[in-house]
Amino acid sequence: MTVEIQSSWRIGSVEIPTRVVLAPMAGVSVQAFRRQGRRFGAGLVCSEMVSCAGLSHGNERTLGYLRIGRDETPLAVQIFGSEPGVMAEAARMVEDAGADIVDINFGCPVRKVTKTGAGATLLEDRDRACSIVGAVAAAVDVPVSVKMRRGLEDGSRAALAVGPRLVESGAAALTLHPRSAKQMYTGTADHSLTAELVELVDVPVIASGDVTSRARAQTLLDETGCAAVMVGRAAQGNPWAVGEIASAKDGDPAREEVVAELVLFIRATVQELGEKRATGFLKKFYGWYLGRGRFPKPFKQELVQLATLAEVEERLFAAAPGATDVLARLEGELPGEDDVLLDLPISVYGGG
Ligand SMILES: Cc1cc2nc3c(=O)[nH]c(=O)nc-3n(C[C@H](O)[C@H](O)[C@H](O)COP(=O)(O)O)c2cc1C
Repeated sequence: MTVEIQSSWRIGSVEIPTRVVLAPMAGVSVQAFRRQGRRFGAGLVCSEMVSCAGLSHGNERTLGYLRIGRDETPLAVQIFGSEPGVMAEAARMVEDAGADIVDINFGCPVRKVTKTGAGATLLEDRDRACSIVGAVAAAVDVPVSVKMRRGLEDGSRAALAVGPRLVESGAAALTLHPRSAKQMYTGTADHSLTAELVELVDVPVIASGDVTSRARAQTLLDETGCAAVMVGRAAQGNPWAVGEIASAKDGDPAREEVVAELVLFIRATVQELGEKRATGFLKKFYGWYLGRGRFPKPFKQELVQLATLAEVEERLFAAAPGATDVLARLEGELPGEDDVLLDLPISVYGGG
């Protein structure tokens, strides 16, 4: 049976208008990224993972604090940690701040995270994983979802062993990125596992990994029975890919649109992180936006070397003068400022 990408579905009581979910990505999924993904047709957006450990020791190296807006609904906020009680406390904070879904990270392969017993390690520490899901689900009224890798080692099927138990413990949806933690981002995501997981559980399964086009998204929906697809790296500096996947829109933007989206992103990120942090944070985005043959290569190099963001904006507008009108329109459509700043640190480490 063919599932329409533009059709709604549910995680628990939360209605999600399209089958496209914007992936949580540490160091990427700031509020500006999430709002942009939503504008281009993502039905659900996710925060990057926030550290629950930071709640108890407050000494985590962090990028900043989680900011969420009331317009961001439906929004999933992802938490990671290894102590059920601390996770439950963080979940309550996330719910109070307005998250529609609490997502738990059992996929992060980064050693700094796994060595604390959090992230992908929990796929092999199944009783603890179930205790975490149970404690979090009992602590909040909103649905709880879990994002997993296939397991720690190549070829592992741990996600299939633990998935049904997580559902019994209270998970209302599961996301599977079917690479092993060891693989990091190499090789390909083996979505035959996604199809197997769908057969094993009676909650929606979201397929994550290598969704780069509408055709791929539709094939995954049709062949695995997943409820939705998640788009990660393809959306970096490229909301047009989300538009193509979600609504079959043209994935090839004009230069003015690229510059307008990038400048909007720069301005929103400065508001969120402050100018100093944003300046370094934004550098990787220049290549992502301006690459893909949109601008000559040396242009990105030039931007990275500029000292201030004001100079970056100036150079961008010089390269695409028509962008000012596009930007004015985009800024006019922005929601009012009533964001909630949460006392949950955004980790600098990430992955899943
Ligand atoms: C830079 C980066 C950061 C990531 N951070 C997270 C994270 O914080 N939490 C998480 O569950 N997954 C994280 N992931 C994994 C993605 O959500 C996604 O599962 C993975 O990239 C595969 O999808 P893709 O092929 O569409 O990129 C991250 C991925 C990347 C590339």
